[in-house]
Amino acid sequence: MTREQAMGRIAQLRSVIQEHDYKYHVLDQPSISDFEYDQLMQELIALETAHPDLITPDSPTQRVGGQLLEGFEKVTHKAPMLSLSNAFGAEDLRDFDRRVRSLIAGESFDYVAELKIDGLAVSLIYENGVFVRGATRGDGEVGEDITANLKTIKSLPLVLPRSLTIEVRGEAYLPKREFERINREREAAGEALFANPRNAAAGSLRQLDPKIVGRRNLSIFTYAIGSIEGEAVETHASGMNLLQKLGFKVNPERRRLPDIDAVIEFVESWTGERRATLPYEIDGIVIKVNQTSFYPRLGTTAKSPRWAIAYKFAAEQAETVLRDIIVNVGRTGAVTPTAVLEPVRLAGTTVSRATLHNEDMIRELDVMLGDTVVVQKAGDIIPEIVRVVTDKRTGDERPFSMPTHCSECGAELIRFAGEAAIRCINPQCPAHNREGIIHFVSRDAMNIDGLGEQIVTQLFDSKLVQDPADLYSLSMEDLLPLERMGQKSAQNLLDSIARSKENSLERLIFGLGIRFIGEKAAKVLADHFDTLDGLMQASLDEMVAVPEIGPKMAESIKEYFAQESTQRVIEKLRRAGVNFAYKRPTVMMSEDSPFSGKTFVLTGTLASMDRKEAGRLIEQRGGKLTGSVSKNTDYLLAGEKAGSKLDKARELGVKVLDEAAFLEWLGIE
Ligand code: IVH
Repeated sequence: MTREQAMGRIAQLRSVIQEHDYKYHVLDQPSISDFEYDQLMQELIALETAHPDLITPDSPTQRVGGQLLEGFEKVTHKAPMLSLSNAFGAEDLRDFDRRVRSLIAGESFDYVAELKIDGLAVSLIYENGVFVRGATRGDGEVGEDITANLKTIKSLPLVLPRSLTIEVRGEAYLPKREFERINREREAAGEALFANPRNAAAGSLRQLDPKIVGRRNLSIFTYAIGSIEGEAVETHASGMNLLQKLGFKVNPERRRLPDIDAVIEFVESWTGERRATLPYEIDGIVIKVNQTSFYPRLGTTAKSPRWAIAYKFAAEQAETVLRDIIVNVGRTGAVTPTAVLEPVRLAGTTVSRATLHNEDMIRELDVMLGDTVVVQKAGDIIPEIVRVVTDKRTGDERPFSMPTHCSECGAELIRFAGEAAIRCINPQCPAHNREGIIHFVSRDAMNIDGLGEQIVTQLFDSKLVQDPADLYSLSMEDLLPLERMGQKSAQNLLDSIARSKENSLERLIFGLGIRFIGEKAAKVLADHFDTLDGLMQASLDEMVAVPEIGPKMAESIKEYFAQESTQRVIEKLRRAGVNFAYKRPTVMMSEDSPFSGKTFVLTGTLASMDRKEAGRLIEQRGGKLTGSVSKNTDYLLAGEKAGSKLDKARELGVKVLDEAAFLEWLGIE
């Protein structure tokens, strides 16, 4: 392919990919499969690898740059990013309407009402149709440059269909589904949970690694044009239509309304259960005067424009009776109280449990069993008790105190200095142990397929498995009597248990469930100490010397391995033949390796290693090297300035691997 042809094809691919991003992420109507999309992307990557000088920042391949950010630059907004004043009821809305009408007396105008998305305000700058900078609101005057992170958001167009210079404002947010997924993953990794989607969105956009941001699946609804060159936008409604035409995602639930009565009706249509049906969080309704020509006359107060107002939903609350408080012992031994409520409807769902967080919260609320309580949905996901309706006390209420001893093992519960949680630290505690086994087998830990919570609980209750090491002595006879366990699933389970013996050390370290040791720390420790014995023998100083391992983690590890029960489990695992060594990704990975049995040709310059090294790594993993591309070649690894071999590969339809994909296959990111 000539350079000219490559240029043409690159332009074509970019616009096709952009169109598919738009269909999938803005319209929610994908028209091709993920596989077909990947093919287009791979072809573009290959062409850009062959012609690196043709790469431009607005190429879809540039959404996730490999670069770690060092921090965020401050940027001064061209025009301040104002906030909105709030209305909390119909009366406040009528006051707002009266003020507007008195300021533009005699003029005719209408309103637009739209959803107030609960996320993070961002400013997006396009110069000549290309996205050049995105920033947070900050204090309204100065925000932070988060361009690299915003580029990862696929509903954000990197190029516009016209060469416009425009500043667009909008709300970056995390869909409810993604929020739940991220929290599930964080829980499995022993990381702190996000309180609500807004915090999760804000936390994500402040990440210094755009790769992580990319995995969060954020989205953006745009809701204002900050400024635009060479175009007059006379109404807010037409501005939103323009944004929509330019490829931005604009929330469809917006309405042009003739007067404040119609606005109030619209607002009321969203205060009930309808809100719970949205796939994202909203915290109110924004009402804007539609005709922008009146904005200068309406002006702004110190912080907010007089042509718009935010109707804020009251946190939805309901009264119900506290039936009981149950305490659960988690994997780390933390004992958490949960309120059992008389079921009640709240913000579109029936609530029968509420979190009480910890002992301090129970004391602060001064709550008794049998109390009438007010429950509220915090961040609209997890209900919590806000207060006790003391007027409704009958005298029959009973005080509740947190147990002093573990309900499952009887061991004394301990509250560590500086912590709100009380814990059962008995390593033999059944609850603690059962949760520990559930964690051990989980996907990110030892990844034992077919061992869900229910089976673990059955195995645990029947005393067949009391610690993770017992899994390795299970037999067919042990499994067959379990509920819904046939010969075939029992065999599959035994196979996956056996397979897990070969896992690399980091999975085992994470699976042991040592406090403060998440997936990342486990990997760092495995890489540094090579074997479990190496880690067990390491001194505190040696551990703290490892990057990313702090004193709290080091002490927790020491304490964990010092326990006699830990040592017993470790010895059992050793005898069962569980691998205690780190399998460095540079070591051949047997049949799992994507390189295994495949024929490779190398061409061009790689940034991270020379070709000899790349060849060695491929051979180590079971791949074969040849010098020239033929129809028997499985992959061409193409670095920069790849030449005729790349053309040949294209011609023959040989798959092309770029350096990033190669590094990913190697497990190096
Ligand atoms: S208009 C000049 N429209 O709410 C005011 N804001 O305090 C421009 N928000 O910071 C804001 N959805 O982050 C507007 N449809 C919407 C909105 C919206 C969410 C946020 C925005 C702003 C805050 C208002």
